[in-house]
Formats: sequence, structure tokens, C-alpha cells
Amino acid sequence: MLHRLLYVSTADPDMRNDVLEHLLDTAERRNAALDITGLLVFTGTHFMQLLEGPKDAVEAVFDMICQDRRHSAIARLIAEPVQERSCPDWSMALRVVEAANDGPNQIFTVDDQALEPFLPDAMAPDLRVLFQSFNTMKRATHVAAE
Ligand SMILES: Cc1cc2nc3c(=O)[nH]c(=O)nc-3n(C[C@H](O)[C@H](O)[C@H](O)COP(=O)(O)O)c2cc1C
Repeated sequence: MLHRLLYVSTADPDMRNDVLEHLLDTAERRNAALDITGLLVFTGTHFMQLLEGPKDAVEAVFDMICQDRRHSAIARLIAEPVQERSCPDWSMALRVVEAANDGPNQIFTVDDQALEPFLPDAMAPDLRVLFQSFNTMKRATHVAAE
């Protein structure tokens, strides 16, 4: 039985592109070896990651991810058995959706379609909604931190 895990976390403020690329390299290699597939979205401040594969492998990789000091405040949103993978072709894909610089009067940038072209057709509808709404959270989180 396949297992699906989805979490959100807060990135280390020093997170840089080269760190992210190195992290993706490691993730792709290990995930491929463990038959794990998924998607990592980074907003510049937060991560949302989907991991799918054999349950033991997914939980073992998630344990490692939880100990990684490059992010914190890790919240697991979904852990459930599934019939099919939502991102079958990616050992781990990375999508960076930087917050738009739209001035102090714009509290929310409700751009829930920004990720749409990138999300696979096979993605389960509930996951699709979560990834899209995660992308709308970035301005709210930013304002709250000021
Ligand atoms: C946001 C985030 C997502 C990650 N995703 C994965 C992943 O999907 N697979 C993986 O093996 N490691 C992932 N990592 C890295 C692991 O936490 C861990 O650092 C790495 O696998 C350690 O490998 P190494 O000791 O061989 O370098 C992720 C780290 C972060 C911060």
C-alpha cells in the first residue's frame, strides 16, 4: 500500500538558492532509491512538501527531514494510505513561488492559480487545493511577521 504525507514548515531565514539546489540533489537521489516521489514548494519563507511511496520509506525520510535544521515549525497535514501517486514522474520536484512585491497596501495576493500549470493532472483534488491555497498564504504570513 502506498503512503502519502504532506507537511508545511518555516524555512531558515538564511535559506539560499544554492542550498536549496543541493538539498534537491540529495532528495532526488535518495527518493529515487527508495521509490519515493513528490513535490516541494518554496515561497521564500515556507515549504510545503508532498512525499509518496512505501510507508516505511516515507516515514523514515520524513524523520530525517524533521531533524534538518534548515527549517522548523514542521506541521504534518496529511498522512494517509493512497491508491495512486499524485506526482508519479518526480522523485522530487522543486517549485519556487517568491512573494510578489506589491506594496504595503496589498495585504493578500490571492494568486491561487500561480502553481496550476505546474501541478500534474494526476494530482488528487484535495492536494491540489492545499498547494494552491498554500501559495496564497505567503503575504499574510509576511505581514503577520512585521
Ligand atoms: C524542506 C526540506 C525538504 C527535504 N526533502 C527531502 C527529501 O524529499 N528526501 C531526502 O532524502 N531528503 C530531503 N531533505 C534533506 C534531509 O532533511 C536530509 O538533510 C538529507 O537527506 C541528509 O542527507 P545527507 O546526510 O546524505 O546529505 C529535505 C530537507 C529539507 C529542509
